[in-house]
Order: sequence, then structure tokens, then C-alpha cells
Amino acid sequence: MPSLFLRTLAGEASSPPPIWLMRQAGRYLPEYREIRAQAKGFLDLCYTPDLAVEVTMQPIRRYGFDAAILFSDILVVPDALGSDVDFVEGEGPKLSPIRNGAGVARLGKAKLHEHLAPVYETLRRLRRELPEDTALIGFAGAPWTVASYMVEGGGSKEFQEARLFARRDPEAFSELIDLVTSATIDYLRAQIDAGAEALQLFDSWAGVLPPAEFQRWCLRPMAAIVDAVKASHSEIPIIAFPRGAGVLYQHFVETVPVDGVSLDTTVPREWAAENLRKVCLQGNLDPIALLSGGDDMLNDARHLLNSLAGRPHIFNLGHGVLPPTDPDTVSRLVDFVRSYRPSSG
Ligand code: CP3
Repeated sequence: MPSLFLRTLAGEASSPPPIWLMRQAGRYLPEYREIRAQAKGFLDLCYTPDLAVEVTMQPIRRYGFDAAILFSDILVVPDALGSDVDFVEGEGPKLSPIRNGAGVARLGKAKLHEHLAPVYETLRRLRRELPEDTALIGFAGAPWTVASYMVEGGGSKEFQEARLFARRDPEAFSELIDLVTSATIDYLRAQIDAGAEALQLFDSWAGVLPPAEFQRWCLRPMAAIVDAVKASHSEIPIIAFPRGAGVLYQHFVETVPVDGVSLDTTVPREWAAENLRKVCLQGNLDPIALLSGGDDMLNDARHLLNSLAGRPHIFNLGHGVLPPTDPDTVSRLVDFVRSYRPSSG
């Protein structure tokens, strides 16, 4: 029988729901920090299957989550396309910025699979090591979010350079989006062939785009990816995370044939239950509630469970686990979710 996670994505409602957490592998775990200290840098960790398998497994061993997410990063794609990604300690990612058509023309996907081969190897090993009922999630960044890091040369608050580029030279920006879209399709297909059983597309910065740009740079490229991956691998469910989309979540799920949608912390649960009927809902406990960790967290988790009871729901956060989170608090949350019955609310 398929795992609880896959059955839920296929439309089955269960109580308690399956649970995993975005950024479940990472700095809040002492065993992650230990492995991280052994690696030369963060990208080396992503490109060394022995280490990447180990850090993917750490939260599974500790908490028995229903799904494991491949340990990697959305920025391995720009790295493979020629953006020279570097993670600077304490400063976040740095890339060589692309500000015009000439910069886009210097990139290419000729070495994509060669560059990402260690990631595929990590997936193959994970599928062998994971318990059978633990689903393996592959992922990629969505084109807008990935392109925004490529244009800015790193993280940003407003994504001013990326948004200006898109307005001043939409043709060149569109070429960049198309290149990332095409590379992402190849990358996700290879992840499935290596053992990924479900996929998540992270559009972490979808929320900075006004509606027309949301349509053009977020929704359209994500739809192209979902259509292409479904055409070759129709059996693999896809979850999209258009973070910050607000009321456009509804338009998104009605237009893009995804199986699930991950809700950020700002989406009212009752509204989602009422208006996002076509898909499985994932989310959306506030990572700050998890950091806070007291009864306040459990009350919020109970509200979430009650609001989405009867709907296919995957329990998760509205964004990633924050580094100062206490690992014992995560246990407390998992125990609470696993012992939940609808009548207990
Ligand atoms: O457990 C997991 O979720 C699997 C691995 C994973 C990482 N990043 C590991 C990581 C996943 C799915 C991501 C996605 C990712 N990466 C996103 C989309 C989701 C989101 O959080 O919005 C984005 C925008 C990135 C880009 C990125 N990676 C940034 C901006 C940073 C630096 C800031 C930070 O959070 O540290 C990273 C680094 C990163 N990616 C770390 C981890 C565990 C920390 C690296 C370290 O150990 O120093």
C-alpha cells in the first residue's frame, strides 16, 4: 500500500494527518551541526552523497516523519547553470549577479546532469535506506525565486534588481525564466528517475509580485513545469508553495494542475478549507509558534487540525523550521499531532 503521505496527496483524508516539516534537516539539530562542521562548505554537503544522505535521515530517525525531503538547496540549479554560487558563513548565498541579456547568454544547461549527478546518487541511496512507509520528496525552486537570486546575486528584501530587470527588459528576463524552467524540468525528471516519489516547488518570493507579474513569472512557469513533468511522469504528485500569494492561491490551484499546495502562515485555514477544494492542503503552523513551543503552540496546532479535519491535509509549517528551535519542542509537536483525534478538539 502507498504511504500515508502519498495517499493523502492522492486525495484521502486521514486523522491524524501525515506530518513533515520544511527545513526539517538543518541547524536546529546538533547532529546536523556536527556533520556541517566536517564539510568544507554548505554546497559540498549538498554534493557529497554520504553526508547528504546522513543529514536527510537525521530528522527521520529522531521524529519518524512521514516524509523525508532530499537534503540539497534550490540554488544548486543556478550553480549548475553557471552562476557561481557560494554560501558565505553568516551572510547567506552569493552568486555572480546577472543584470542584462549578455549575462543571461553566458549561462547554459549543457553541464546540468553532470553537475547534479551527486544529488541523483543521494536520492538513489535514500530510497534504499528509508523505511518503506516514509515517502521521499524531491524538490526545486520555482523559476521566479531562483531567477531572483541569480539577478540580485544573493538574497534581498524587495528583489528590486530582479523586478526592475523584468520591467525594463522583459524579453531578456523571460529568456532567463525560460532557461531556469527548462533546466528545472530536466532536473525534476532526473530526480524522479533516481527515486523521488513526490515533488515540491518552492516559490518563496512569489508574494512580492503584483497580480499581472505573479501570472507571468510565477504561475506560468510553474504551470509549464507541472505540465511537462506530468506528461512524462503522470504518477508523481507535485506540491507547489507560492509563498505569500494571498487570495491568488485560489487562482493558482484552479489554473495549475498540482496535487497539493503548501499554505504560508498568513493564509486563513477556514478560507483555505472553503476555497481551495481541488487540492490537498499542506501547512501552515507558524514557525514562530514552534519556536515559542508552549501550550500556545499546541493550541495553534489544534486549531489547524480542526480547521482542516475531513480534508486531505499534510501537517507542516507555513515556512521552514527556524535555527534556534529546540529539538525537544519538535518531538512535542509530533506527539501532539500523532495523538490527535477530531473529537479531542
Ligand atoms: O530540510 C530541508 O528542508 C531540506 C533542504 C533544504 C535546504 N534549503 C537546506 C538549507 C531546502 C528544501 C531548501 C530550500 C531553500 N533554499 C529555499 C526555499 C524554501 C524557503 O526556505 O523559502 C530557499 C529560498 C533557499 C535558499 C537558501 N539556502 C538561503 C537563502 C540560505 C541561507 C539562509 C539560511 O536559511 O541559512 C540557504 C542555506 C541552507 N539551505 C541551509 C540549509 C540547511 C543552512 C546552511 C548552513 O548549514 O549554513
